[in-house]
Amino acid sequence: MPSTPTALDIASIRGQFPALDQQVHGKPLVYLDNAATTQKPQCVIDAVVNFYTSSNANVHRGLHELSARATKAYEAARAQIASFVNADAAAEIIFTSGVTDSLNLLASTLGASTLAEGDRVLLTHMEHHSNIVPWQMACERVGAHIDVIPVTDIGELDLQAAADLVGPQTKVVSCVWVSNALGTVNDIAAVCRLAANAGAISIVDAAQAGAHVPIDVQEIGCDFLALSGHKMYGPTGIGALFGKRERLEALPPYKGGGEMIQSVSFAGTTYAAPPARFEAGTPNIAGAIGMAEAARFLASLDRDAIHAHEAALNQIATESILQIEGVQLFGRSANKVPILTFNIDGIHPYDLAPVLDHYGVAIRTGHHCTQPLMDRLGISAAARASFTIYNTREEVDVFIHALTRARQLLLG
Ligand SMILES: Cc1ncc(COP(=O)(O)O)c(C=O)c1O
Repeated sequence: MPSTPTALDIASIRGQFPALDQQVHGKPLVYLDNAATTQKPQCVIDAVVNFYTSSNANVHRGLHELSARATKAYEAARAQIASFVNADAAAEIIFTSGVTDSLNLLASTLGASTLAEGDRVLLTHMEHHSNIVPWQMACERVGAHIDVIPVTDIGELDLQAAADLVGPQTKVVSCVWVSNALGTVNDIAAVCRLAANAGAISIVDAAQAGAHVPIDVQEIGCDFLALSGHKMYGPTGIGALFGKRERLEALPPYKGGGEMIQSVSFAGTTYAAPPARFEAGTPNIAGAIGMAEAARFLASLDRDAIHAHEAALNQIATESILQIEGVQLFGRSANKVPILTFNIDGIHPYDLAPVLDHYGVAIRTGHHCTQPLMDRLGISAAARASFTIYNTREEVDVFIHALTRARQLLLG
Protein backbone atom coordinates (compact mmCIF):
# COMPACT_ATOMS: atom_id res chain seq x y z
CA MET A 1 0.00 0.00 0.00
CA PRO A 2 1.35 3.47 -0.78
CA SER A 3 2.32 5.29 2.38
CA THR A 4 0.18 8.29 3.34
CA PRO A 5 2.23 11.46 2.97
CA THR A 6 2.81 13.33 6.20
CA ALA A 7 1.02 16.68 6.22
CA LEU A 8 3.22 19.69 5.56
CA ASP A 9 3.58 22.11 8.45
CA ILE A 10 2.47 25.09 6.38
CA ALA A 11 2.65 27.55 9.28
CA SER A 12 6.28 26.64 9.85
CA ILE A 13 7.07 26.86 6.11
CA ARG A 14 5.34 30.26 5.83
CA GLY A 15 7.28 31.47 8.84
CA GLN A 16 10.49 31.00 6.85
CA PHE A 17 9.38 33.48 4.15
CA PRO A 18 9.61 36.99 5.62
CA ALA A 19 8.01 38.71 2.61
CA LEU A 20 4.75 36.85 3.19
CA ASP A 21 4.29 38.49 6.55
CA GLN A 22 3.09 41.91 5.47
CA GLN A 23 -0.01 43.91 4.68
CA VAL A 24 -0.86 45.34 1.29
CA HIS A 25 -3.48 48.11 1.16
CA GLY A 26 -4.25 47.32 4.79
CA LYS A 27 -4.93 43.62 4.08
CA PRO A 28 -2.71 40.60 4.71
CA LEU A 29 -0.74 39.82 1.57
CA VAL A 30 -2.05 36.81 -0.37
CA TYR A 31 0.75 36.14 -2.83
CA LEU A 32 -0.56 34.19 -5.82
CA ASP A 33 2.01 35.21 -8.42
CA ASN A 34 4.37 32.32 -7.77
CA ALA A 35 4.63 31.23 -11.40
CA ALA A 36 6.19 34.63 -12.15
CA THR A 37 8.57 34.42 -9.21
CA THR A 38 8.45 32.80 -5.78
CA GLN A 39 9.23 34.47 -2.47
CA LYS A 40 12.54 33.60 -0.79
CA PRO A 41 13.03 31.76 2.49
CA GLN A 42 15.28 33.27 5.15
CA CYS A 43 17.95 30.61 4.56
CA VAL A 44 18.37 31.79 0.93
CA ILE A 45 18.47 35.46 1.97
CA ASP A 46 21.03 34.59 4.66
CA ALA A 47 23.19 32.59 2.24
CA VAL A 48 23.42 35.58 -0.11
CA VAL A 49 24.02 38.09 2.70
CA ASN A 50 26.63 35.85 4.36
CA PHE A 51 28.53 35.48 1.12
CA TYR A 52 28.75 39.24 0.65
CA THR A 53 29.43 39.77 4.35
CA SER A 54 32.31 37.37 4.78
CA SER A 55 33.48 35.63 1.61
CA ASN A 56 33.07 38.06 -1.26
CA ALA A 57 35.86 37.72 -3.84
CA ASN A 58 36.09 36.66 -7.44
CA VAL A 59 36.24 32.92 -8.08
CA HIS A 60 38.85 30.66 -9.67
CA ARG A 61 41.76 33.01 -10.22
CA GLY A 62 42.78 34.41 -6.83
CA LEU A 63 45.43 32.87 -4.61
CA HIS A 64 44.09 34.39 -1.41
CA GLU A 65 41.81 33.21 1.34
CA LEU A 66 38.61 34.99 0.29
CA SER A 67 38.94 33.89 -3.31
CA ALA A 68 39.49 30.32 -2.16
CA ARG A 69 36.37 30.55 0.02
CA ALA A 70 34.29 32.06 -2.80
CA THR A 71 35.50 29.39 -5.23
CA LYS A 72 34.75 26.60 -2.76
CA ALA A 73 31.24 27.94 -2.12
CA TYR A 74 30.56 28.43 -5.85
CA GLU A 75 31.72 24.91 -6.76
CA ALA A 76 29.79 23.47 -3.80
CA ALA A 77 26.70 25.21 -5.22
CA ARG A 78 27.30 23.46 -8.54
CA ALA A 79 27.55 20.10 -6.75
CA GLN A 80 24.34 20.84 -4.83
CA ILE A 81 22.41 21.58 -8.03
CA ALA A 82 23.87 18.43 -9.63
CA SER A 83 22.55 16.41 -6.72
CA PHE A 84 19.17 18.26 -6.89
CA VAL A 85 18.63 17.02 -10.47
CA ASN A 86 20.52 13.74 -9.96
CA ALA A 87 23.20 14.52 -12.55
CA ASP A 88 26.19 12.18 -12.84
CA ALA A 89 28.72 14.90 -12.08
CA ALA A 90 28.94 18.54 -11.00
CA ALA A 91 30.65 19.31 -14.34
CA GLU A 92 27.29 18.65 -16.03
CA ILE A 93 25.90 21.85 -14.47
CA ILE A 94 26.42 25.25 -16.12
CA PHE A 95 25.37 28.36 -14.23
CA THR A 96 23.46 30.81 -16.43
CA SER A 97 21.28 33.81 -15.69
CA GLY A 98 18.05 31.81 -15.98
CA VAL A 99 16.04 29.56 -18.26
CA THR A 100 15.89 32.22 -20.98
CA ASP A 101 19.69 32.40 -20.98
CA SER A 102 20.04 28.59 -20.97
CA LEU A 103 17.69 28.17 -23.92
CA ASN A 104 19.48 30.91 -25.86
CA LEU A 105 22.78 29.16 -25.13
CA LEU A 106 21.40 25.90 -26.52
CA ALA A 107 19.68 27.40 -29.56
CA SER A 108 22.77 29.39 -30.43
CA THR A 109 25.35 26.60 -29.96
CA LEU A 110 23.22 23.81 -31.43
CA GLY A 111 22.32 26.19 -34.25
CA ALA A 112 26.03 26.61 -34.95
CA SER A 113 27.03 22.97 -34.53
CA THR A 114 24.10 20.68 -35.21
CA LEU A 115 21.31 22.32 -37.20
CA ALA A 116 21.61 22.57 -40.97
CA GLU A 117 19.36 23.61 -43.81
CA GLY A 118 16.24 21.47 -43.96
CA ASP A 119 16.55 20.22 -40.37
CA ARG A 120 13.60 20.42 -38.01
CA VAL A 121 13.19 21.50 -34.39
CA LEU A 122 10.15 20.16 -32.55
CA LEU A 123 8.50 22.46 -29.98
CA THR A 124 5.01 22.48 -28.48
CA HIS A 125 2.08 24.87 -28.67
CA MET A 126 2.36 25.58 -24.93
CA GLU A 127 5.94 26.89 -24.90
CA HIS A 128 7.00 30.07 -23.16
CA HIS A 129 8.42 32.62 -25.62
CA SER A 130 11.88 31.80 -24.28
CA ASN A 131 11.57 28.34 -25.81
CA ILE A 132 10.27 29.66 -29.14
CA VAL A 133 12.10 32.83 -30.12
CA PRO A 134 15.71 31.54 -29.70
CA TRP A 135 14.82 28.57 -31.96
CA GLN A 136 13.24 30.84 -34.55
CA MET A 137 16.44 32.90 -34.58
CA ALA A 138 18.64 29.78 -34.84
CA CYS A 139 16.46 28.20 -37.55
CA GLU A 140 16.39 31.40 -39.57
CA ARG A 141 20.18 31.52 -39.59
CA VAL A 142 20.60 28.03 -41.07
CA GLY A 143 17.34 27.47 -42.96
CA ALA A 144 15.89 24.93 -40.50
CA HIS A 145 12.19 24.67 -39.63
CA ILE A 146 10.04 24.44 -36.53
CA ASP A 147 7.30 21.85 -35.98
CA VAL A 148 4.78 22.24 -33.19
CA ILE A 149 3.17 19.52 -31.05
CA PRO A 150 -0.52 20.47 -30.72
CA VAL A 151 -2.30 21.02 -27.42
CA THR A 152 -5.69 19.41 -26.75
CA ASP A 153 -8.75 21.30 -25.51
CA ILE A 154 -8.03 20.38 -21.88
CA GLY A 155 -4.47 21.63 -22.21
CA GLU A 156 -2.44 18.46 -22.70
CA LEU A 157 0.13 17.62 -25.34
CA ASP A 158 -1.19 15.49 -28.18
CA LEU A 159 1.58 12.88 -28.03
CA GLN A 160 0.07 10.85 -30.86
CA ALA A 161 0.40 13.87 -33.13
CA ALA A 162 3.90 14.37 -31.74
CA ALA A 163 4.93 10.90 -32.88
CA ASP A 164 3.77 11.75 -36.40
CA LEU A 165 5.75 14.99 -36.40
CA VAL A 166 9.11 13.37 -35.61
CA GLY A 167 11.17 12.36 -38.60
CA PRO A 168 14.76 11.81 -39.73
CA GLN A 169 15.30 15.56 -40.06
CA THR A 170 14.24 16.23 -36.45
CA LYS A 171 17.46 17.23 -34.67
CA VAL A 172 16.11 18.86 -31.53
CA VAL A 173 13.00 18.35 -29.39
CA SER A 174 12.57 21.12 -26.81
CA CYS A 175 9.61 20.94 -24.47
CA VAL A 176 8.26 22.59 -21.35
CA TRP A 177 7.78 20.19 -18.42
CA VAL A 178 5.20 22.23 -16.47
CA SER A 179 3.25 24.86 -18.39
CA ASN A 180 3.32 28.32 -16.80
CA ALA A 181 -0.04 29.15 -18.38
CA LEU A 182 -1.96 25.86 -18.10
CA GLY A 183 -0.33 24.23 -15.09
CA THR A 184 -0.15 20.97 -17.07
CA VAL A 185 2.61 18.58 -16.02
CA ASN A 186 3.67 17.01 -19.30
CA ASP A 187 4.82 13.41 -19.62
CA ILE A 188 8.34 14.67 -20.16
CA ALA A 189 9.95 11.23 -20.11
CA ALA A 190 7.72 10.22 -23.03
CA VAL A 191 8.73 13.33 -24.97
CA CYS A 192 12.43 12.62 -24.30
CA ARG A 193 11.98 8.99 -25.44
CA LEU A 194 10.40 10.23 -28.64
CA ALA A 195 13.44 12.43 -29.24
CA ALA A 196 15.92 9.66 -28.37
CA ASN A 197 14.19 7.17 -30.69
CA ALA A 198 14.55 9.65 -33.53
CA GLY A 199 18.20 10.35 -32.69
CA ALA A 200 17.27 13.92 -31.74
CA ILE A 201 18.57 15.96 -28.80
CA SER A 202 16.03 16.45 -26.01
CA ILE A 203 15.77 19.67 -24.02
CA VAL A 204 13.50 20.24 -21.02
CA ASP A 205 12.33 23.67 -19.89
CA ALA A 206 11.98 22.99 -16.16
CA ALA A 207 11.39 26.63 -15.12
CA GLN A 208 8.08 25.80 -13.44
CA ALA A 209 8.98 22.21 -12.57
CA GLY A 210 11.72 23.21 -10.12
CA ALA A 211 9.37 24.19 -7.30
CA HIS A 212 6.70 21.57 -7.91
CA VAL A 213 8.06 18.22 -9.06
CA PRO A 214 11.10 16.15 -8.05
CA ILE A 215 13.67 16.22 -10.84
CA ASP A 216 15.76 13.25 -11.89
CA VAL A 217 17.49 13.81 -15.22
CA GLN A 218 18.49 10.14 -15.45
CA GLU A 219 14.93 8.98 -15.00
CA ILE A 220 13.61 11.51 -17.53
CA GLY A 221 16.39 10.59 -19.95
CA CYS A 222 16.89 14.16 -21.21
CA ASP A 223 20.04 15.55 -22.82
CA PHE A 224 19.59 19.04 -21.36
CA LEU A 225 17.37 20.53 -18.65
CA ALA A 226 17.05 24.21 -17.73
CA LEU A 227 16.20 25.44 -14.21
CA SER A 228 15.42 28.93 -12.99
CA GLY A 229 16.61 29.97 -9.51
CA HIS A 230 13.94 32.56 -8.84
CA LYS A 231 11.04 30.19 -9.56
CA MET A 232 12.23 27.69 -6.96
CA TYR A 233 12.70 30.05 -3.99
CA GLY A 234 16.17 31.18 -5.07
CA PRO A 235 17.48 34.58 -6.20
CA THR A 236 16.69 36.27 -9.51
CA GLY A 237 19.29 36.38 -12.29
CA ILE A 238 20.56 32.85 -11.76
CA GLY A 239 19.74 29.59 -13.49
CA ALA A 240 21.32 26.21 -14.02
CA LEU A 241 21.59 24.20 -17.19
CA PHE A 242 22.13 20.46 -16.92
CA GLY A 243 23.75 18.86 -19.94
CA LYS A 244 24.96 15.29 -20.38
CA ARG A 245 28.73 15.35 -20.36
CA GLU A 246 29.17 14.13 -23.96
CA ARG A 247 26.54 16.59 -25.21
CA LEU A 248 28.26 19.52 -23.49
CA GLU A 249 31.65 18.45 -24.78
CA ALA A 250 30.30 18.49 -28.34
CA LEU A 251 29.01 22.07 -28.10
CA PRO A 252 31.02 25.10 -29.22
CA PRO A 253 31.30 28.05 -26.82
CA TYR A 254 28.40 30.48 -26.51
CA LYS A 255 29.98 33.69 -25.23
CA GLY A 256 33.68 34.53 -25.43
CA GLY A 257 35.75 36.11 -22.67
CA GLY A 258 37.63 35.30 -19.51
CA GLU A 259 37.26 31.97 -17.70
CA MET A 260 36.08 30.02 -20.77
CA ILE A 261 39.48 29.60 -22.42
CA GLN A 262 42.41 27.24 -22.22
CA SER A 263 44.84 29.63 -23.88
CA VAL A 264 44.54 32.84 -25.89
CA SER A 265 46.87 34.31 -28.47
CA PHE A 266 46.27 36.47 -31.51
CA ALA A 267 47.02 33.40 -33.60
CA GLY A 268 44.02 31.66 -32.08
CA THR A 269 42.25 30.59 -28.91
CA THR A 270 41.54 27.19 -27.43
CA TYR A 271 38.60 26.66 -25.16
CA ALA A 272 38.22 25.21 -21.69
CA ALA A 273 36.27 22.01 -21.12
CA PRO A 274 32.69 22.29 -19.80
CA PRO A 275 31.42 23.74 -17.54
CA ALA A 276 33.96 26.62 -17.73
CA ARG A 277 33.57 26.78 -21.53
CA PHE A 278 30.05 28.13 -21.02
CA GLU A 279 30.71 30.49 -18.13
CA ALA A 280 32.53 33.44 -19.68
CA GLY A 281 33.15 36.36 -17.36
CA THR A 282 32.59 36.73 -13.63
CA PRO A 283 29.63 34.52 -12.74
CA ASN A 284 26.73 35.39 -10.44
CA ILE A 285 28.51 33.85 -7.44
CA ALA A 286 26.06 34.99 -4.78
CA GLY A 287 23.16 33.90 -7.00
CA ALA A 288 24.58 30.41 -7.44
CA ILE A 289 25.08 30.10 -3.68
CA GLY A 290 21.52 31.32 -3.06
CA MET A 291 20.10 28.94 -5.67
CA ALA A 292 21.95 26.01 -4.11
CA GLU A 293 20.51 26.97 -0.72
CA ALA A 294 17.03 27.01 -2.28
CA ALA A 295 17.66 23.52 -3.68
CA ARG A 296 18.77 22.39 -0.22
CA PHE A 297 15.62 23.93 1.29
CA LEU A 298 13.42 22.09 -1.24
CA ALA A 299 15.31 18.83 -0.74
CA SER A 300 14.69 19.08 3.00
CA LEU A 301 10.91 19.01 2.48
CA ASP A 302 8.81 15.89 2.07
CA ARG A 303 8.07 15.93 -1.68
CA ASP A 304 5.03 13.64 -1.35
CA ALA A 305 3.61 16.02 1.22
CA ILE A 306 4.26 18.99 -1.09
CA HIS A 307 2.45 17.17 -3.85
CA ALA A 308 -0.50 16.34 -1.60
CA HIS A 309 -0.76 19.93 -0.33
CA GLU A 310 -0.56 21.45 -3.82
CA ALA A 311 -3.06 18.93 -5.21
CA ALA A 312 -5.49 19.86 -2.42
CA LEU A 313 -5.02 23.59 -3.14
CA ASN A 314 -5.57 22.94 -6.83
CA GLN A 315 -8.73 20.96 -6.23
CA ILE A 316 -10.34 23.38 -3.81
CA ALA A 317 -9.38 26.46 -5.86
CA THR A 318 -10.65 24.84 -9.08
CA GLU A 319 -13.96 23.76 -7.55
CA SER A 320 -14.47 27.18 -5.98
CA ILE A 321 -13.60 29.28 -9.03
CA LEU A 322 -15.96 27.24 -11.20
CA GLN A 323 -18.82 28.27 -8.87
CA ILE A 324 -18.36 31.86 -10.00
CA GLU A 325 -20.68 32.74 -12.86
CA GLY A 326 -19.03 33.34 -16.22
CA VAL A 327 -15.63 31.88 -15.33
CA GLN A 328 -13.66 30.19 -18.11
CA LEU A 329 -10.80 28.14 -16.72
CA PHE A 330 -7.99 27.18 -19.10
CA GLY A 331 -5.93 24.06 -18.47
CA ARG A 332 -8.05 21.21 -17.14
CA SER A 333 -5.58 18.35 -17.19
CA ALA A 334 -5.85 15.90 -14.30
CA ASN A 335 -2.08 16.13 -14.05
CA LYS A 336 -1.39 19.73 -13.16
CA VAL A 337 0.13 22.03 -10.55
CA PRO A 338 -1.99 24.71 -8.84
CA ILE A 339 -1.83 27.31 -11.60
CA LEU A 340 -5.30 28.67 -12.44
CA THR A 341 -5.52 30.70 -15.64
CA PHE A 342 -8.96 32.11 -16.24
CA ASN A 343 -11.19 34.83 -17.60
CA ILE A 344 -14.59 36.06 -16.48
CA ASP A 345 -17.20 36.85 -19.15
CA GLY A 346 -17.55 40.57 -19.71
CA ILE A 347 -14.43 41.54 -17.74
CA HIS A 348 -11.04 42.36 -19.19
CA PRO A 349 -8.37 40.51 -17.20
CA TYR A 350 -6.36 43.71 -16.87
CA ASP A 351 -9.26 45.20 -14.87
CA LEU A 352 -9.33 42.26 -12.45
CA ALA A 353 -5.80 42.41 -11.03
CA PRO A 354 -5.97 45.97 -9.60
CA VAL A 355 -9.26 45.18 -7.82
CA LEU A 356 -7.81 41.99 -6.34
CA ASP A 357 -4.72 43.93 -5.32
CA HIS A 358 -6.95 46.09 -3.10
CA TYR A 359 -7.89 42.90 -1.25
CA GLY A 360 -4.19 42.15 -0.80
CA VAL A 361 -4.33 39.42 -3.46
CA ALA A 362 -1.45 39.43 -5.98
CA ILE A 363 -2.24 37.75 -9.30
CA ARG A 364 -0.89 38.26 -12.82
CA THR A 365 -2.66 39.13 -16.06
CA GLY A 366 -1.51 39.16 -19.65
CA HIS A 367 -0.39 36.64 -22.24
CA HIS A 368 2.09 35.05 -19.80
CA CYS A 369 4.76 35.02 -22.56
CA THR A 370 2.73 32.35 -24.34
CA GLN A 371 1.09 34.20 -27.23
CA PRO A 372 0.84 31.11 -29.49
CA LEU A 373 -1.00 29.30 -26.68
CA MET A 374 -3.30 32.30 -26.14
CA ASP A 375 -4.10 32.18 -29.89
CA ARG A 376 -4.84 28.46 -29.57
CA LEU A 377 -7.22 29.22 -26.68
CA GLY A 378 -8.86 32.00 -28.71
CA ILE A 379 -7.95 34.74 -26.21
CA SER A 380 -5.42 37.54 -26.08
CA ALA A 381 -4.91 37.58 -22.33
CA ALA A 382 -6.03 35.93 -19.11
CA ALA A 383 -5.72 36.27 -15.35
CA ARG A 384 -3.53 33.77 -13.51
CA ALA A 385 -3.43 32.78 -9.86
CA SER A 386 -0.51 30.50 -9.10
CA PHE A 387 -0.19 28.76 -5.74
CA THR A 388 2.78 27.08 -4.14
CA ILE A 389 3.88 25.31 -0.95
CA TYR A 390 3.34 28.23 1.41
CA ASN A 391 -0.19 29.06 0.27
CA THR A 392 -3.09 28.01 2.46
CA ARG A 393 -6.72 26.99 2.05
CA GLU A 394 -7.67 30.22 3.82
CA GLU A 395 -5.86 32.13 1.08
CA VAL A 396 -7.92 30.27 -1.53
CA ASP A 397 -11.02 31.56 0.28
CA VAL A 398 -9.71 35.15 0.33
CA PHE A 399 -8.90 34.90 -3.39
CA ILE A 400 -12.36 33.55 -4.26
CA HIS A 401 -14.06 36.16 -2.11
CA ALA A 402 -12.02 38.96 -3.74
CA LEU A 403 -12.81 37.60 -7.19
CA THR A 404 -16.53 37.46 -6.45
CA ARG A 405 -16.48 41.06 -5.18
CA ALA A 406 -14.41 42.16 -8.21
CA ARG A 407 -16.94 40.58 -10.54
CA GLN A 408 -19.83 42.37 -8.82
CA LEU A 409 -17.97 45.67 -8.92
CA LEU A 410 -16.82 45.44 -12.54
CA LEU A 411 -20.09 44.16 -13.98
CA GLY A 412 -22.08 46.71 -11.95
C1 LIG B 1 7.79 27.85 -18.58
C2 LIG B 1 8.80 28.96 -18.49
N1 LIG B 1 9.91 28.90 -19.25
C3 LIG B 1 10.84 29.87 -19.20
C4 LIG B 1 10.70 30.97 -18.40
C5 LIG B 1 11.78 31.99 -18.34
O1 LIG B 1 12.54 31.79 -17.17
P1 LIG B 1 13.63 32.81 -16.62
O2 LIG B 1 12.87 33.87 -15.87
O3 LIG B 1 14.48 31.99 -15.71
O4 LIG B 1 14.39 33.35 -17.76
C6 LIG B 1 9.54 31.10 -17.63
C7 LIG B 1 9.32 32.31 -16.80
O5 LIG B 1 8.21 32.74 -16.61
C8 LIG B 1 8.58 30.06 -17.66
O6 LIG B 1 7.48 30.11 -16.91
